Amino acid sequence: MENFVVSARKYRPSDFKSVVGQSHITTTLKNAIKNEHLAQAFLFCGPRGVGKTTCARILAKTINCEDRLENGEACNACSSCEAFNSNSSFNVHELDAASNNTVDDMRNLVEQVRYVPQRGKYKIYIIDEVHMLTTQAFNAFLKTLEEPPKHAIFILATTEKHKIIPTILSRCQIFDFNRIQIQDISQHLAYISKEEDIDYEEEALRLIATKADGALRDALSIFDLIVTFSAGKKVTYQETINNLHVLDYDYYFKVTDALLEESISKSLLIFDEILKKGFDGHNFLVGLSEHFRELMVCKDPDTAQLLLVSESAKNRYKDQSRQASLSFLLSALTICNQADMSYKTSKNQRLHVELVLMKLAKLPHAINLASLAEDSSKKKA
Ligand SMILES: Nc1ncnc2c1ncn2[C@@H]1O[C@H](COP(=O)(O)OP(=O)(O)O)[C@@H](O)[C@H]1O
Ligand SMILES: [Mg+2]
Ligand SMILES: [Zn+2]
Repeated sequence: MENFVVSARKYRPSDFKSVVGQSHITTTLKNAIKNEHLAQAFLFCGPRGVGKTTCARILAKTINCEDRLENGEACNACSSCEAFNSNSSFNVHELDAASNNTVDDMRNLVEQVRYVPQRGKYKIYIIDEVHMLTTQAFNAFLKTLEEPPKHAIFILATTEKHKIIPTILSRCQIFDFNRIQIQDISQHLAYISKEEDIDYEEEALRLIATKADGALRDALSIFDLIVTFSAGKKVTYQETINNLHVLDYDYYFKVTDALLEESISKSLLIFDEILKKGFDGHNFLVGLSEHFRELMVCKDPDTAQLLLVSESAKNRYKDQSRQASLSFLLSALTICNQADMSYKTSKNQRLHVELVLMKLAKLPHAINLASLAEDSSKKKA
C-alpha cells in the first residue's frame, strides 16, 4: 500500500498565497517584508487549525529567503528555503508552551536568542500556545521580548488571547486569524480532491466544511476519514452523512412540504422516523431553523447570496422558498427559536418538538385567516 500522508500535513501551504481565507494577514505580512518594516514580535491569535503555525513558518522562511520574489514571496529554491522546506533550518525554533512552560525552558530559550544566526539574517522563535507559560516563565522572557537582539524575531501564537497579559500584548504586533468560511473550505477540499484524483459530490464537501466549524485542519481530517471509508472511490453526500451522523437535509425539505400542506400527521411521522434513526430532537429543531433561514434568504435575490448551501442544492431551496410565504417563514422561525431556548428545560422533549410541528402545520391556515380578516376590514373602510 502506498504511504498515506494525512492531508493536513501534505497540504500545508508553503507560501503566503496558498494560505486560505487569511488574506488580511498575509497581505500585511508581505508588505511589511517588502518595505522592510517588520516588527520584532508578533502575536497570532485565533481558533485552532486556521493557519497560525503555518503563517509563522512561512514568515520565517520568507524573511530568510536569499532570492525573494518581487511579490514578496519566498523563492522556495534557494538553500535557505530548501532548508526550511525540509525542516532542517537552524533559523527557526519552535517551542510548544503547552509542554515547555517552566522558567528553565524560558531561560534556555533566552540563552539561545543571544547567538547570531550562522547563515541567513534572522532567527525566528515560534512559541505556540503562549498563554500556557507560567507567570515566572513569562517574566523570564519579558526582558528579551522588550529588547530583542536585531536578528531575533518572535512569533507568539495563542488560541486564548484574553489570557495574555497586557505587558505582552503591548509589545507585539497583533494579528487576529479568522475562522475559515465554509465556502473557502469547500473550495480547498475540492482543490485537494482534484490533486489526489478523488471524485466527490459538492454537497459532501460542503457538509465537511460545515462540520469543521471554521477550522481547516479539522476539515482535512474529516475529509481523510471519509476518503478512507469510501475506499478511494467517490466522496458522496450519503457516505458523508452516514459517517458524520448528520441528518440528511432531505428530511427538512420533506417536513417543510408536510407543514405547508398543513399535515400534522405527516410531519409527526417524519419526526418519528428521524428519532428512530438515533437523531436528537434538539438538533432537529436547530436544523429546521437553519432550513427556514435558508428559505428566507432565498426570498430576495439580494439576500440569496447569503445562502449557505452548495451550488447544486441551491435550486431546491429556491423552489421550496417559492412555496412558503414570508409570513410563514418569519413565524416559523420565531416558533422554532422559542422552542430552541426552552428545549433544555422541557420535561417531555419529544412532545416539545411535536408541539412545534403542530403549531407550524397550523401556520399557513392562521396566516390565511389573518390576511382574509385584513382584506375584509380594508373593504369595510
Ligand atoms: N488558512 C489555511 N490555509 C490552508 N491550509 C490551512 C489553513 N489553516 C490550516 N490549514 C491546514 O491545517 C494544518 C494545520 O494548520 P496550523 O497552521 O498548524 O493551524 P493553527 O496553528 O492555527 O492551529 C495545516 O498544515 C494546513 O494543512
Ligand atoms: Mg499551531
Ligand atoms: Zn528562497
